[in-house]
Amino acid sequence: MLQLNGVTKKFGGLIAVNAVDLQVNEGEILGLVGPNGAGKTTLFNLISGIYRPDKGRIRYRGEDISRLSMDRICRKGIAKTFQHTLSFPGLTARESVMIGALFGNGRRRSMEEASREAADLLDRIGFPPDRIDMPLSNQNVIDLRRTQLARALASRPKILLLDEMMTGLNPSEGTEAVALIRSLRDEGLTIVMIEHVMRVILGVSDRMVVLDRGEKIADGPPAVVMQNQRVIDSYLGERYT
Ligand SMILES: Nc1ncnc2c1ncn2[C@@H]1O[C@H](COP(=O)(O)OP(=O)(O)OP(=O)(O)O)[C@@H](O)[C@H]1O
Ligand SMILES: [Mg+2]
Repeated sequence: MLQLNGVTKKFGGLIAVNAVDLQVNEGEILGLVGPNGAGKTTLFNLISGIYRPDKGRIRYRGEDISRLSMDRICRKGIAKTFQHTLSFPGLTARESVMIGALFGNGRRRSMEEASREAADLLDRIGFPPDRIDMPLSNQNVIDLRRTQLARALASRPKILLLDEMMTGLNPSEGTEAVALIRSLRDEGLTIVMIEHVMRVILGVSDRMVVLDRGEKIADGPPAVVMQNQRVIDSYLGERYT
């Protein structure tokens, strides 16, 4: 569904993503892990068109999307959540999700339709109904993430890129989030997720890819990747205790 070949991104002298080859298959949940600064978020930013690769090519269903703007990539059905941003602080949770519904993939919807869809999605994701019309600047971190996920879903994606959606969730919220991700996949979505919580990513991923210093160092079934010595040395030894 998505094919990256030799994708490279530099920031000044730093090679954040270095000649990465990666394939994402339709209907899978792909886990993307690696130490801090490995280039995971940069890879998502390249796929979604926030950055353009310095080298290499990104294809979506066979079409080269490496040079397309991010709004065109979104309208083709690739949506992502952001690791760190508080986008649109002045908008309410509902309004920020409506942006996805109004400007995303697929037909244009009326404001009323977008508003209803935003409320339904937020509800499905467990967003507290009494806070839906409050500004994002007054929402807590977990509810901001729910809003981001709802906004991404409102754009009706085919591929969903999730950047550390689960950080800071308690175990029961984590279990709910995993169930939600599985149900999204069962509805036909393809999901790539960056996650540091090993218990979660191992349990939910069909396949895992490990990045280290911009390079892909492992790619395969979770159980196999976890036995890989390079992965243990560069990542697990440090984090999975
Ligand atoms: N816009 C930018 N300008 C300059 N350097 C950047 C920029 N974005 C990322 N970097 C650098 O690129 C490298 C990869 O960063 P990236 O955010 O992709 O890592 P990551 O794997 O997502 O890490 P984390 O687990 O901490 O989120 C880091 O050294 C980072 O400092
Ligand atoms: Mg990151």
